[in-house]
This record gives sequence, structure tokens and C-alpha cells, in this order.
Amino acid sequence: MIRPAQPEDHPACAAVFLAAYRQAFPLHPPDYYVPERYFESITGEEQWVAVQAGQIIAVLSIYWPENFIHSLYVEPRLQNRGIGRRLLEAVVARAKGICELKCDKVNKRAVAFYEHLGWCEVGEGEAETGPWVRLRK
Ligand SMILES: CC(C)(COP(=O)(O)OP(=O)(O)OC[C@H]1O[C@@H](n2cnc3c(N)ncnc32)[C@H](O)[C@@H]1OP(=O)(O)O)[C@@H](O)C(=O)NCCC(=O)NCCS
Repeated sequence: MIRPAQPEDHPACAAVFLAAYRQAFPLHPPDYYVPERYFESITGEEQWVAVQAGQIIAVLSIYWPENFIHSLYVEPRLQNRGIGRRLLEAVVARAKGICELKCDKVNKRAVAFYEHLGWCEVGEGEAETGPWVRLRK
């Protein structure tokens, strides 16, 4: 089931976020992977979740004023089963007009995932965390 996150979902969303974030970006010090990182990152955004057997298994956060998908994280043990695609496409279908997102270039797997789903590169830049690409659908 895909649905908007409720306030009581956020601890479970933070757990999914941290597990998938650690997998995608494993090189930070251990104390980097704290729930506060999730809570700070979602300010002003709306979260959508994928739920399976009552458990939150993926979370997406979107900033609606710009149709900007800020983050998409799937529980590591459940990746490559179509969950990321279903959550992403369910939210994009609700957007009016184009959607955009930024992805760190080092995260080659995620860039390939988005490109496979038809997202096109429209820009690039450099952040503290390294180079990123801007993708549009
Ligand atoms: C990237 C991520 C969101 C993808 O979600 P997922 O559930 O594993 O991906 P899906 O199973 O839904 O894949 C959907 C499609 O993309 C394709 N795909 C997935 N990874 C791919 C890759 N590296 N290269 C090419 N295609 C890929 C799949 O084959 C599938 O194709 P199909 O629908 O035509 O069969 C997930 O792996 C994840 O949470 N990664 C860690 C966190 C992260 O990097 N998030 C993105 C940065 S914000």
C-alpha cells in the first residue's frame, strides 16, 4: 500500500531512511547516522510511504511547491523488488507538471534507477558531499 505518512509513522520512516542511507553512503562516521538527520531533512516537505504487512518499507519526501523529490529510501533487504518504482510513480502521478530531484553522482545505482525510469539529466553541480546531477521527469 502506498499512502501519505502520518505523524506516528516518522520513527519507522527514520529507521528506513537511516538503513538505506547508510547503505548508499557508508563512509560517514558512525554518529552521523542518527534519526535527527531524517527529521531535519524533511522540514516543509510531505512524506509518502510504502507499507507491507503493516510495516513501513520505503519513504519518499517531496517539496510540493517545486515538485521536488528530496529523498527516496527503500529498506535495504527489500530493494530490487519494484517498491521504489511504485512509490516514486505514485507520487509523481499526483504532481502537476514536471518533477525534479538531485542525486549524488557517486550514487551510481540510484542515478541508473532514475534514468531507467525515464528521468533525464538537466543540470549538475557540486556540494560539500561531492558532485550531483539534477534529473527531471
Ligand atoms: C535507489 C532505490 C530507491 C531504488 O529502489 P528499488 O526498490 O531498489 O528499485 P526497483 O526495484 O523499484 O527498481 C525499479 C526499476 O529500476 C531498475 N533499476 C534498479 N536499479 C537499477 C540500476 N542500478 N541500473 C539500472 N536499472 C535499475 C530495476 O531493474 C527496475 O526495472 P523494471 O521496473 O523495468 O523491472 C533503492 O535502491 C534505495 O533506497 N537505495 C538506497 C537509497 C538511495 O540511494 N536513494 C536515492 C537517493 S535519494
